[in-house]
Parts: sequence; structure tokens; C-alpha cells
Amino acid sequence: MAEPFDIVIFGGTGDLTLRKLIPALYRAFRENQLVEGTRVIASCRSQQDIDSYLDTAALALQQHLSPEEFSVPEWEQFKSYLHPVMLDIAVDDDRWQALQVLMDAEPEKVRVFYLAVPPAIFGVTCENLSSVNLITTNSRLVVEKPLGYDAGSADAINTEIANYFEEENIYRIDHYLGKETVQNLMALRFTNLIFEQLWNAKSIDHVQISISETVGLEGRAGFYNDAGALRDMVQNHLLQLLCLVAMESPNKVDAKSIQAEKIKVLEALRPMHGEEVINNTVRGQYVAGSYFGELVPGYLEELESPTSQTETFVALRAYIDNWRWARVPFYLRTGKRMKSRCAEIVIQFKDVPHRVYDDSAGPLEPNRLVIRLQPEESIQMTVMSKNLENMDMQLKPATLNLNFSDTYTQFRSDAYKRLILDAAAANTSLFIHRDEVAAAWNWIDPIIDSWQNSKAVPNLYRAGTWGPDESDELLAEEGHHWFNSGETET
Ligand code: BG6
Repeated sequence: MAEPFDIVIFGGTGDLTLRKLIPALYRAFRENQLVEGTRVIASCRSQQDIDSYLDTAALALQQHLSPEEFSVPEWEQFKSYLHPVMLDIAVDDDRWQALQVLMDAEPEKVRVFYLAVPPAIFGVTCENLSSVNLITTNSRLVVEKPLGYDAGSADAINTEIANYFEEENIYRIDHYLGKETVQNLMALRFTNLIFEQLWNAKSIDHVQISISETVGLEGRAGFYNDAGALRDMVQNHLLQLLCLVAMESPNKVDAKSIQAEKIKVLEALRPMHGEEVINNTVRGQYVAGSYFGELVPGYLEELESPTSQTETFVALRAYIDNWRWARVPFYLRTGKRMKSRCAEIVIQFKDVPHRVYDDSAGPLEPNRLVIRLQPEESIQMTVMSKNLENMDMQLKPATLNLNFSDTYTQFRSDAYKRLILDAAAANTSLFIHRDEVAAAWNWIDPIIDSWQNSKAVPNLYRAGTWGPDESDELLAEEGHHWFNSGETET
């Protein structure tokens, strides 16, 4: 039976909190996963915020939940879990004592301190928590990406928070790991003999991991223009997915074993420098386009800056230099304002070694496993089969389809809900170790350096497309092409 806990959200009125965290906690409440006595303590900077906090939270829920999820009677119950408090994180004043008084009545209760604030104030927040003795043995710190800007800044952040929390009490979130199909990927690989036997360079031709988004800047211009797609998406979400596809079986499904395997993959990624970066990566930036029938502005217009060279799209070819994956290309791709919203992993198997049917049976397509994380969650396997409508031996590809949205009609997955509840329950397996962050940056940093040194500008693509032509050319070099979800292959 789960225990009640306190979650203190620093940055209570911020975008992440209102868009993701409060809706996730509301879902947990609706699904009876918030035990009575649990408190959501949201820090607000001004008194005004406190007074209007509940209205703001209610509005956010209506905006970010589907209409059938939100109801006034349930909101009336849920709001008793919400406790806005007034606090200026950076200022060490008596409002911290007030927080201490609020929490001290139950010193044994689990405390989850969620830093939904910029990393620049992680240190001072931890320092203030410590100075009023709020950090107990039952306390956990949750931090969000982006963890740093490069290996050096990430290390500085990790060193700073390590002054106050032990590594096992630090929960670094990558919300992609909370997505149900991502966990299903481990189940698929490590509980089914048929896949794992073929999961290597002998049978797999290449792997594609693609996260395409239809949104643009979403009001995050300042952050995004400094970061770009490589730091925002590849350093974390895409590399985490790559790790789960490529890692060896962990001995157990605990954090230590899983993280150790992921680190080995990150360390085996072939480093790229100079020309290698130019030959194996594509940077893109969207320009205005006709998008779902509507005109949308280009990145520079949205940003209101005519000179930015920040990439809103990345495609790259990576290699994992180990026995299992020798010479297998891993194509990673992500972008804003692309044609459709989709996140999926495609495992393209090799061709059969010998064709037993002659050409009149039609072309043979090698097997393909597609693990889709969103919009709907599914696992599909393409196999060749006989076309039953034809008396002659005619072959055609058919799809074995495990569609979770059809099977679990009542279930609505929410990565943040999952991860918050895991942090409260001290289940660390879906969180990221400090060394993973470091290894990922060590691979990313030289790519950014090479881009900067090359003076090359991003390739342009129209909003509402699959990215710049150079991204298709990157795959065509090896005779491959992107499997764009929802599109018939060419
Ligand atoms: C975030 C990025 O980590 O992930 C955003 O900062 C991006 O730029 C988002 O839009 C995508 O998450 P999801 O779950 O909507 O695919």
C-alpha cells in the first residue's frame, strides 16, 4: 500500500508545473494513486500568486486534460491536496521557516523536492532547504533536464546538488523514460526469446529513432534558441531511447544494473569530430510553410530575430563500437514543425540470405519492427505473407499489430505521473545517473564544437515537412530511407 507523501514543487506557477506536473498529479488523484494525506506544496513568488493559484491550476487542468478527464466535482476534491506557499527561492528569509513549520509536523513523511526551476538556482534552493533542516533521510530531490549546457556545466550542477543530497536520493528525470511503451521496449527485449536472439549486427540492418513534433517554439524562445534541437532532444531523450534499444540485458531491473548497461552504450558511441560530424549530421531550421492547411511563420519570424542559426531539426548517423552493433547505423532524427507528431523506433532487419520464390512472386521486404511511443502506443512487426486473394504465389507484406490504445481503452499513460509516483516510492529504475549525463554530453560536445567551427549554416526546411532534403540524402548514402509514420513508403 502506497504511503502519503509531500511533494514540494519549486516553480509552482511555471510552464512545466502547470502543463505537466499538476495535470499528472490530478490524474494520479483520479486513479486513486494519491493516498489521503498527500500534499502538493507549490511555491509561488508573490502573495498574489497564492490567492489566484487555485484558479490558475484549475484553468491549466482544463487546458491540458481532455474534457472527459476534468470535472468540477473531482477538482473540488483534488484542490484540497494543493497547498500554495509564498516563497522566493533565492532569498533566505522567514518564509523558509514557514515551509519548515508546514512540513515538520510529520518528520518521517516522504518529501519529494521537485526543482521545476532553471538549473542556475538549483544550488541556492538546496542550500536554503538545508539551512532550515528540511532535508531528512526520507527526502528526495527531483531535477529536470536540461542538466547543463555541456559536460562542464552539467558536472558543476551535479557537484552542487551532491553537496546536499546523496546520489541515490537524486532523481534526474527524462520524461521519455516514463512513457509506457519505452518500458515496454525492455519487456519486449528481455522477456521474449525470439527478439533477443536476432538483436544484433548479424540480423539487424539499421535502426531509426525519430521524434517529430508539429509544435514550434511554444513561448520558450529564450531557452530554445540557446539550446537548439541537439541539446534539447538528442542529448537526453534520443540517446536514452538509443541506450534502451542497444544495451545488454541488465542482471536485474534495478536502477544500478540498468544504468550501468546504459552507460556502457553511451561510452561505446563512436566519437565524431570535424569532417566526421559534417558527414554524419544534418542541421535544419524551419521556414514558413503551409501547415495543415494553415500558414505558420518560420523559426526566425517566430523568434523575431533574423540572424539565429539555432537548429530546430537534427538528423544524424551514429555507430556503437561494440561486438553486438559493429557497423550497424543508428539514425536519430528530431525536429520542430515537422509533418506529423510521432515518436518511434524502427528496427530494420536484414534481407533473407536466399530467395526461394522467383521474381514473379513480387518483391520481398525484410522484416521490420516498429515500436511507436506516440501519438498512439503500439508495436508492429512487418512480415512477408502470401496474398490469399491470388491463386498464384504472390507475396505481400502484412503487419502483426499490437495496438495498446485498442487494448487498454481506459488507460491514459502519463509519463510525469509515473515518474512522480516512482520518486515518492523510491523506485529509481527509470531515472538517470550522473555518469549517464556526463557520458551523453561527452559525445554531444564535439558535435556542437564542429558545427560552430565549420561556420556552415542550418539547412532550411518548410514547416509541415519531414525536414531538409539533406536528411533524406544522409540515409540514401547507405541505400536507406526514413520510414515516415503515416506515409506510404516510396
Ligand atoms: C521536452 C523538450 O523535453 O520534450 C521540448 O524540451 C519537447 O522541446 C518535449 O517539445 C517533447 O515531449 P513529448 O513528450 O511531448 O514528446
